[in-house]
This record gives sequence, structure tokens and C-alpha cells, in this order.
Amino acid sequence: MSQINYDELSFDDEDELKFPRPTVHEFDRVVERAVSRRGFLGGALAFGSGAAVMGSGLLNSSALQAQQTSRFAFDQLAPQTDGTVHVPGGYKWDVLMRWGDPLFSDAPAFDPKTGVPTDGSDRVFGENTDGMELFLVGNTELLVVNSEYANTKVNLPAEQEGKPISAEDVVRLQNFQGVTVMEVAEGPNGWEVVVDSPYNRRIHHRTPMIIEGPAAGHDLMKTEADPTGTQSLGTFNNCGSGRTPWGTYLTCEENFNGYFGATEPTVLEEATVAGYSRYGVSTKIDPGRYNYHNFDPRFDISRNPNEPHRAGYIVEIDPSDPDSTPIKHTALGRIKHENAACVVAPDGRVVVYMGDDERGEYMYKWVSRDVYTPGGDTSTLLNEGQLHVAKFNDDMTGTWIALTPQDTGMSPAEIAIFTRIAATEVSATTMDRPEWIAVNPVSVEAYCCLTNNSRRGALDDDGNVRTNAAGEPMVPNAPNPREVNRYGQIVRWRPHNDDHAASTFDWDLYVMAGNPTVYTEGLYAGSANINEGNLFNSPDGMQIDSTGLIWIQTDGDDDNEGDFSGMGNNQMLAGDPVTGEIRRFLTGPNGSEVTGLTWSADRRTMFVGIQHPGAPFPDGEGSLPRSSIITVKRADNALVG
Ligand code: FEO
Ligand code: CA
Ligand code: CA
Repeated sequence: MSQINYDELSFDDEDELKFPRPTVHEFDRVVERAVSRRGFLGGALAFGSGAAVMGSGLLNSSALQAQQTSRFAFDQLAPQTDGTVHVPGGYKWDVLMRWGDPLFSDAPAFDPKTGVPTDGSDRVFGENTDGMELFLVGNTELLVVNSEYANTKVNLPAEQEGKPISAEDVVRLQNFQGVTVMEVAEGPNGWEVVVDSPYNRRIHHRTPMIIEGPAAGHDLMKTEADPTGTQSLGTFNNCGSGRTPWGTYLTCEENFNGYFGATEPTVLEEATVAGYSRYGVSTKIDPGRYNYHNFDPRFDISRNPNEPHRAGYIVEIDPSDPDSTPIKHTALGRIKHENAACVVAPDGRVVVYMGDDERGEYMYKWVSRDVYTPGGDTSTLLNEGQLHVAKFNDDMTGTWIALTPQDTGMSPAEIAIFTRIAATEVSATTMDRPEWIAVNPVSVEAYCCLTNNSRRGALDDDGNVRTNAAGEPMVPNAPNPREVNRYGQIVRWRPHNDDHAASTFDWDLYVMAGNPTVYTEGLYAGSANINEGNLFNSPDGMQIDSTGLIWIQTDGDDDNEGDFSGMGNNQMLAGDPVTGEIRRFLTGPNGSEVTGLTWSADRRTMFVGIQHPGAPFPDGEGSLPRSSIITVKRADNALVG
């Protein structure tokens, strides 16, 4: 047997070699139901024709095959592997904004080889675009966009290994991340950012924030600089987005843990140690990706052990008021927040669906105590309510379990700060990395992208099924039925009584991504709405447009080989929720993730995010790669959503 070169293996391939899939599937019974026509037609009674799309590659859906008409106004785009963006015939795309483009006329010029200098790095568009939403304030359109993380080799190209080695480097990285508010307008030359608009704003890792909700003022939230535990600086790892009915932006703090480190061996309190362990906060002295802790004491857990407790929240920003202070809403829990899908229940209460993106973590729902009244006071609406976590049953029903002091043995503040620990106490269902959740505006249902989970059902060195951070074995379960899940799936649920505030629901899988050209049978072939033409893996970003079409963005393996052959670069596809048909619409440059989607006020333009391009996109050879927002329009300027 030839020698294995681990350097040439992807993370997942190496993982499989080290932790091979068990040959005996212990989950046969539930898988049988998940893929059987009988099981999903059972679901179809509740779900209408949409459930007919379910089934494995073994089981063709006659409903899908019989489909005569398509709702899509475009021909399917072929997979692509090059360094640019592609859209179908009849559509056009353009670059709106790149990392380093100016928000203000005093911003420094972008240098194609060195990027942006530290001085003025808070006057330009941030790096690694992610969730975004568009707001109409009067007749002004404001695009609000997350900048999720820094790619230090790109953002600090002058430093060896791209590691920050000075306080100045750290400030530059802090300035490139967070949130950008910017005015956009469409003119004769297409869409442009209005430089120097009074609405333009950068919110970064040092911007003052207010902390509200049950954790505000708790001892675990107090630091040397903030003995009240009610004010913090910065919002971190801003991944997906959301919007409230009252016109504010929700930015979602995901992998906040990565910004912290220690400068010396440190003894911590028991609760803090447990929290660090569950959320992956490092107590190591090494520089990590960001090395903040060696230059900014806030990130040094040896000096400020409570600072990590002040990140990992949903943060509300009012884009219409550039002087407003963002609010961290601890009531909505502290997890690795992907996005926040907000909907108003029939009785006026506000419901926020949220995913915790880590292998084997959970899905959450928060329901406000008070009701939303259009035009009424919303200033305290997100402060009081009940957080729930999802439990999925094998019979395709589910329950939102309330995280109460009684059932968790934790105080309201502890539930808000150590939400994951509270959820484990009530036996929530471990999921395959919940990414974006989207609520269908034309039907009472919601969807969550479960992107992948290479460790689901895989064995560790001792032959035991691998666990999540709580130590729960990640055995396959009904909505996550695949061992070593490389492709991902989208789960859909319909709340009982057509009420998103209801505590019970029915669910099915809208799609299981897969590769029927590699696996002719079984769960790896994917569901019946996956075919040779629309292959993709790792659904992540998701929005549902005003007509009810689902737009699915991917962040997966784009090597186009082996299990992933025929998938090409990361992409955006459209899905019909009723027929289940899925069609590729857009492909990103190689190396990139397609993430973030919103529409202009007239619905004639889509704004799409291209994050971390591998190629020198969009400026071409000789330039650093620049994450960018692009516009996509129909050539005839018709509606696109
Ligand atoms: Fe930032 Fe889970 O994606
Ligand atoms: Ca994501
Ligand atoms: Ca992802």
C-alpha cells in the first residue's frame, strides 16, 4: 500500500481515514423512515405536495418527475470552476463594493499588494462580507453588511505568516471586522455606494455597545473596565443577519471564542472553566489567528476572564440613526449565532429562530413576552421573553423546550450566558451544524440549513462515537440521519396551529444534498430533488424572497473531485418550496463562499456576498483577493424576488 500524504488530504478526507465510518449502521430504522416513500408521504399529509420531493436516490419522486412547469425564470447554470462569478443568460452582475473601498472621501486608497493601512482602516468597507439586509429610510436605501472575520494573510500581507505582531496590526484587524452601514443608490452607471453619506458607519471591535436582558449586570459580565457589566466594546465574528419588523438590523456573533487567549497560566472559577470548555475559549498563550490578547488586554483572559462572556449574542443596530449605540440582547442566548430569523406570531409576539453553528449543537427559538405594535415602543421588546431549544422526534414531530430555571437548574442570567449548557440539560437534539434559518413569508413554515457534520457517527481512537462539546455522542438522529455527513441537508418545520409561537411542530427534510453520480443508492445519493444537474454541498446562507422562493448559498468543498465531483465552485441555487425543484442560479469564484443576500427596495436587484475568494477576485492578477458585494439584475430590469 502506498504511503498516505496527509498534506494532500482535505480535512474531511483525513478525518475519514483516521475515524472510518462504522460498517454497521445502527440507525437503520430511522433512516428507513427518512428515505421511505411511506414515511415521507406520511409527512405529506401534513406538508402538502412539498413532502413528495423527499426520498433517496433509490426512490424517484413521481410528483417531481410529473412536474410540468417551473417557477424559475432562468435556465440552470452549469457548475463552474474558474475565478469569477457566473449568472444565467438574461441576467447580469456587477461589483458594488470590495473590501477596502472607501465609505468616506478621506479614506486611504487601497493598494493591490498591501491592502489598507491601519490609519483610516475604519473608513473603508470591511473584510469578509457575510449577512446583509437592506433598509429603506424615507427614500434612502441603506445596505447593512457584516464583516465576519479577518483573513490575516490577506489583511496583513506584510507580516510573516500573516500573524499580527503589534498593537497597530491588531487595531487594523479590529477595524476590518464588524458591521458596515452604507447608503446605496442606483444611477445611470448602476448601483454605487454614496461616499460620505451621513448614514455611512463602521461598527468594529471597539465600538461601544449596551448590554441588555437577563445577563446585564451579572457578576459574570463584569470586567475591570466595566464594573457594571452593562457596557462592552465591539461586536465579534458577525456571521448571519436578521431584521426586526421595526426596521432594525440584527447582527449575529458566531465564533467569538477565537479572539481570546492567555498571557500566563491562569486559574479560573469553576463556572468560567465549564463555559470556556463548552464554547471553545482558549486559555493558550500562543498567538492564535488574531493574537489580540498580547496587545489588547481586553482579550487576555488572564486579566479579563469575564470578557468572553460579553460576546456570542444577537446585537441590534438602528441603521437610521448613525449615532445610536448597538444593543447586545442577552435574552436571545449566547451561542455561536448564525443568523436571526424574525417573524411576528398571530398574537403579535415576536419570534426569533436561531441556529448554533457547531457540530452537534442545537436550534433555538425565542418568543417575546410582549407584543409588537406597529409604530409602538419597541425599545424593550427583545429584553423579556422565553428561549426554547428544539427537540426533533423520529415520528416527524418536534417540540420547542423552554429553557427555564426549573428545568435547567440555572438562573435566568446563567441560561443567557451559558445557553448551550442549559440546552443540554433538557436533552435537545444534536444537529449537523445549524446555519441560516429562513421563514417563508407566504406559508407558515421555516427552514434551517444543516451544513455538514463529518464527525456524525464517526468513531474516535477508542472506537466510541464522537461527541459534541458537551460530551453527547453524535449518533445519527431523524433530521440528521447520515454518518459522516459531507453534504448537508435542509430541515423544514411547520408550527402547529399556524403559529410560530407554538411549542410543537411537524418537520421533514426539504432536501438532502448528495451526489447520485458517485453514489447510485443510499443516503449519500441525496434526496430525489438532487440530480446530476444541480449538485451542491454544504448549504449555509439562505433567504426566502417575497414570492416564497428559497435562495440557498453554499460554503462547502469546491475541489470538484471525488465525492464533490460535478459540484464546482460554491454557488447560489433557487428552490421551489412546493415542488421541491432546485436549480443552480449563480456560481462564485473558486475558493470563495457565497454568503449574504438581500434585495433592493424595488426588488429588481439582488445584492449577493462573495466571501474569501481564493482567486484574485475581482481585480485580477496582481491584486490581493477582495471579498465583495455584487449586484445581480435581469437584463430587462424585471423583478428578481
Ligand atoms: Fe459564519 Fe456558520 O457561518
Ligand atoms: Ca455561514
Ligand atoms: Ca459555513
